[in-house]
Amino acid sequence: MSVKSTPALSIRSVSMSYGAEKVLDGIDVDLAAGEVLGLLGPSGCGKTTLLRLVSGLLLPLEGEIDIAGRTVAAPAKGLALPPEQRGLGMVFQDYALWPHLSVARNVSFPLEMQKVSGSEKKERVMRALDRVGLASMAERRPSDLSGGQQQRVAIARAIVAEPPLVLFDEPLSNLDRELRETMVEELSDLVAELNLSAVYVTHDHAEALTLANHVAVMRGGHIEQLATPDDLVNRPSTVEVADFLRLGCLMPALRSEASWCIEGTDLALPEGPAEGSRARILLPERAVRLDDSGPARLKTEIVRVQTRSTGKAITLRVLGTEFLIRLVSNKPARQGERVDLSYSPNDLQWFHAVD
Ligand SMILES: Nc1ncnc2c1ncn2[C@@H]1O[C@H](COP(=O)(O)OP(=O)(O)O)[C@@H](O)[C@H]1O
Ligand SMILES: [Mg+2]
Repeated sequence: MSVKSTPALSIRSVSMSYGAEKVLDGIDVDLAAGEVLGLLGPSGCGKTTLLRLVSGLLLPLEGEIDIAGRTVAAPAKGLALPPEQRGLGMVFQDYALWPHLSVARNVSFPLEMQKVSGSEKKERVMRALDRVGLASMAERRPSDLSGGQQQRVAIARAIVAEPPLVLFDEPLSNLDRELRETMVEELSDLVAELNLSAVYVTHDHAEALTLANHVAVMRGGHIEQLATPDDLVNRPSTVEVADFLRLGCLMPALRSEASWCIEGTDLALPEGPAEGSRARILLPERAVRLDDSGPARLKTEIVRVQTRSTGKAITLRVLGTEFLIRLVSNKPARQGERVDLSYSPNDLQWFHAVD
C-alpha cells in the first residue's frame, strides 16, 4: 500500500446556516499538501462562509473539518478550535496592512501574536520577505510600495509563521482588470514557488483556472463540480457549470423520432443521446470555426465584430434563434453577413433535461 501524505485540508459533510437560512449544504473537499483549491462561484454562494468555517471565525452546524491531519471542528463531538489555534495564514481583498508600520513590522505581526522573541522573529521576518522577493524593502512603509509589492507583503505576513494552509479571499477583486491580470500570473508563480497549500476564493473564473490545481464550482451553498481546470473546461458536469464558466453557447435540443434538432428550429444536430426527448447542448467556443470545412455545420448571422489584440471578436446568432456564439478569428467578417460555422460533433456536450 502506498503511503499517502496527510491532506492539507479535509472538509466532510459540512453544513452551515445563518438563522433559518441554510447557506452551505453537505460540503465535501479534500486538498493535498502543496496544492491550491479554488472556490469559485457568484457572489452570495457561500465562499466566504466556507473560508470562515476553515479559519475558525465561524463554527459549522454539521460535519467535520481537518487541517493537516488535525480535527479543528466537529460539532457532533463538541470540538471547535479557535482561529489562533489553527495557525492559518490569510490574505484578504484589501491586504489589511498597517499603513503606519514598516513592511517588516507588518510581516512580524503573526509572530508577535505567538510571542516569538527578538532575534528569531527578525530572522523569520527576513526569510519570509526574502521568499517573496522583498528583502530590500523591509524598512519601507506599505504606501511606498506598488500594488503588487503590497500584495507580496500580505503574502509574506501570511506565510511567516509557516502555516499548514493559507486562505485567500478574493485578494485581487479590488484591482482594475489590467493589474489583476498581471497579478494573477505573479501570484500563481509565487504560490507554486512557495509550495503553499492554499484555498483561493474568487468569483472570477479565469483567476481560479489560472491559480488552482482543483476548482470547486459553488452555487447556492453546494459544490456543483470539483475538478481540475482542464476537466472543468472540457467536461463540465452540469449546464450551470458550463454557463458560469462561459464555455460556449448553450441551447435546448429536442428529439423527434430518431433525430435531434435545436429547439424552435429545423437545424439538425448530429448524434444525441438515445434516451429522452429533451436535452441541453453546449457548443464550446473552442470547438467552432469560421469556415465550412468541418464535419458538422451551423447556419449563422454575424451580429457584431469587435477588434481585439488577439484578433476579431465575432458574435454570431444561430439563424432562426436568439442563441449567440462567440469566437475569435482573423478571417474577414462583416456585420449582417450569413456564414456557416463548422464544428466537430464530438465536441458537442449533451446534458440531460427533465422531460
Ligand atoms: N453574517 C451573516 N448573517 C446572515 N447572513 C449572512 C451573513 N454572512 C453572509 N450571509 C449570507 O450567506 C450567503 C453566503 O454569503 P457569503 O459566504 O458571504 O458568499 P460569497 O462569499 O460567496 O459571496 C449569502 O446569502 C449572504 O447574504
Ligand atoms: Mg465573499
